[in-house]
Amino acid sequence: MKKLTITRPDDWHLHVRSGAILKTVIPYTARQFARAIIMPNLKPAVTTVAHALAYREEILQAVPETVCFNPLMTLYLTASTTIAEIKKAAASEHVHAFKLYPAGATTNSDSGVADIKSVYPLFAALEKYDMPLLIHGEVTDANCDIFDRERVFIDTILTDIVSAFPELRMVVEHVTTTEAVQFVQSAGSKIAATITPQHLMYNRNVILAGGIRPHYYCLPIIKREHHRLALIAAAISGNAKFFLGTDSAPHLSSLKETACGCAGCFSAHAALELYAEIFEQANALDKLEAFASFYGPDFYRLPRNSGAVTLEKITWKVPAVYGENGIAITPLKAGEKLSWKIQ
Ligand code: NCD
Ligand code: ZN
Repeated sequence: MKKLTITRPDDWHLHVRSGAILKTVIPYTARQFARAIIMPNLKPAVTTVAHALAYREEILQAVPETVCFNPLMTLYLTASTTIAEIKKAAASEHVHAFKLYPAGATTNSDSGVADIKSVYPLFAALEKYDMPLLIHGEVTDANCDIFDRERVFIDTILTDIVSAFPELRMVVEHVTTTEAVQFVQSAGSKIAATITPQHLMYNRNVILAGGIRPHYYCLPIIKREHHRLALIAAAISGNAKFFLGTDSAPHLSSLKETACGCAGCFSAHAALELYAEIFEQANALDKLEAFASFYGPDFYRLPRNSGAVTLEKITWKVPAVYGENGIAITPLKAGEKLSWKIQ
């Protein structure tokens, strides 16, 4: 196959930051995706509809005029979130979900929730107003092995949430394990999951291949090969519960290449191309369109996009860094070759 045309896709999990980094990264998402779920872990976190709408304006200002892009906003759930704010969010055409970060689980999650049971009344309100809950599914117990944190979250926290709130729509974000795939498959129709390119492409060896490689460090951390194979099987299965969410999470290279580097992989520069490569290697290019363009909007109850994007089979080399004027962001596959390119 030399060309592949699919319905214009959406990215259901994206970090774009603000200010100069936002201006650097947003054009890459906007040229391939019609919409993206914008994660709210700014500093300070986006906890109100007013803040989300102001942030949305900042994003729109940074989108090149030649493209049409709709940022789908989310609010950061905290112990101080009010039911009135949930009601307001549900009534807003621009706010599409709430994000749950266990406190301390990942980048800018200090205002996350420490005691999940204490926010059950908020989950009840989300269920009542039919607002999806997007979940960073990892326990934060320092004594729990970092490679087990997703599985333990499912066993000790997520299973309870799902049975307590059977009508609550939930996305288990960036699933990384066989256990998470099985959990989502066997849960009811309200439960879905996003899968990132890095978790489909790599196993944990990549982080320590011949030295310590900070650009492969993200959270949840990349797992063993058998988990990667389970994620591939889920992504190409045609099961509508699994859809595209890059978790592209730009950090300045200087903040990753340091004694205590930030978590997050920047993949927006080539997101769809990366997924195309993965699906082709799995002999499943015919399954890419539904994963990238249909199952996400169906879950969020939004219309599927009407436009199309075409990928061409052309080898190109990913730049070593993106950005200028003091911004340098190392992308996934920096300096390596990719075999698909967006026209
Ligand atoms: C994300 C970030 O940098 O905002 N980092 C990451 O490793 N994925 C936060 C997140 O989604 O966990
Ligand atoms: Zn994320």
